[in-house]
Amino acid sequence: MSSSAATYARENHPRFLEELKTLLRIPSVSTLPENATDCRRAAELLVTELRRIGFDNVRLIETEGHPLVYADWLHATNKPTVLCYGHYDVQPADPLDEWNTPPFEPTERNGNIYARGAVDDKGQVWAQVKALESLLATKRALPLNVRVLFEGEEEVGGEGIAAFVASKSPLLQADFALVSDTELFAPGLPTLCVGLRGMIYTEIEVRGAKTDLHSGMYGGAAPNAFVSLAQILSRLKDEDGRILIPGFYDDIIPPSAAELAAWRSLPFDEEQYRIAEVGSKKLVGEPGYTVLERTWARPTLDVHGIPGGFIGAGAKTVIPAKAQAKVSMRLVPGMTPAKAFAQYKNFVQQIAPAGVDIEVRLIHSGAPCLIPVDNPYIQAATRALHEVWGRDTVFIRSGGSIPIVGDFAKHLNLPSVMMGFGLPDDNIHAPNEKFNLKNFELGIQSLIRFLEEVGS
Ligand code: BES
Ligand code: MN
Ligand code: MN
Repeated sequence: MSSSAATYARENHPRFLEELKTLLRIPSVSTLPENATDCRRAAELLVTELRRIGFDNVRLIETEGHPLVYADWLHATNKPTVLCYGHYDVQPADPLDEWNTPPFEPTERNGNIYARGAVDDKGQVWAQVKALESLLATKRALPLNVRVLFEGEEEVGGEGIAAFVASKSPLLQADFALVSDTELFAPGLPTLCVGLRGMIYTEIEVRGAKTDLHSGMYGGAAPNAFVSLAQILSRLKDEDGRILIPGFYDDIIPPSAAELAAWRSLPFDEEQYRIAEVGSKKLVGEPGYTVLERTWARPTLDVHGIPGGFIGAGAKTVIPAKAQAKVSMRLVPGMTPAKAFAQYKNFVQQIAPAGVDIEVRLIHSGAPCLIPVDNPYIQAATRALHEVWGRDTVFIRSGGSIPIVGDFAKHLNLPSVMMGFGLPDDNIHAPNEKFNLKNFELGIQSLIRFLEEVGS
């Protein structure tokens, strides 16, 4: 049985897609200062649209960074209240020359829409807005009370929304959160994400000599900041991928036997993943753990960039005085960002080679989370997904992080339903990010059905 809202969504799908393209044309890259006004424009577009489709109290909520978008519709007496969450900011688009079409010129190609933010997360934000529009346009009412909270700093740690959520604003009074920022485990397979890794993102700065020096005159006597940095980095993880920070693994809560068994029955082929998704000669990681365990239930440490020194074409014989590395660690349930950072910082100081000064800075952090599945919202979600996709839902975790989900639970006591419609090969954060158009369409249908189900 298909509701009138579902029919409305189907009939209006071409317009929904054109509107999404307008949002995708705005380069709302949250980490780049030069795109700050674009972030605000994206937020304002959402405000305008939420007003147009009939929401009340639609407004920007200012933060120290990019604004939040808030709206509500609270006229469903005696019905639950959902807090709809997504983010309008995106990751930087570089390397630009690897894009087949420009990142901020959304293009349809073989059943996908290609653009930075297509699936992470503008396409999914738009799916929520269009589900809400479809319900309001056909019934002049929503089946439950709805609050909307979109942020523009998810990709940079989400400090603004974290402060707002920690303030326990009455605007956030709700029964559960609906988060559309995750993916299906495989095409056509309805999926709910029930666990995320947390993270600490850090910078190590190494200072040796007081200024850059001629490497012939001083080489062999003056400390080299890059060599020292490399020595530090090489001692953070062993060849098997085990993190060497003392105590780092102590508090981990391993997945239950039932969860591990469920993961084993997921359609997953490590060799196919290696070739099609990763594209490397070999996979790495801790022996004794499957790929899903390594990426969902074990912490990891990665180096993202090592800025500084001479990086121009050709050669320059210099001993750089200063070197930096951007290093992040993903955390799993049981671990806390504060403790993990303290352990890491102490260890880096301890292993620092003689002759250099080290500074270890925390850029941002977010807690890991595990979602309880024994609640009526998760159950309603699986019923809705079954109607739209014709299959049983799989419960997965994700190795990625959405820092605010842990805060929804901690400060507002909200369980989250993480219902997302990306695909593993959607190239999020990478060149040629895409959103499958069928998933955009069925995503809207799923969200409509889910909200109807919770309100019924
Ligand atoms: N939507 C992603 C997280 C994600 C990715 C969830 C894949 C499920 C599957 C989110 O936008 C993201 O990229 N988060 C950052 C957070 C960080 C910058 C604090 C991440 O995981 O790197
Ligand atoms: Mn996202
Ligand atoms: Mn992201």
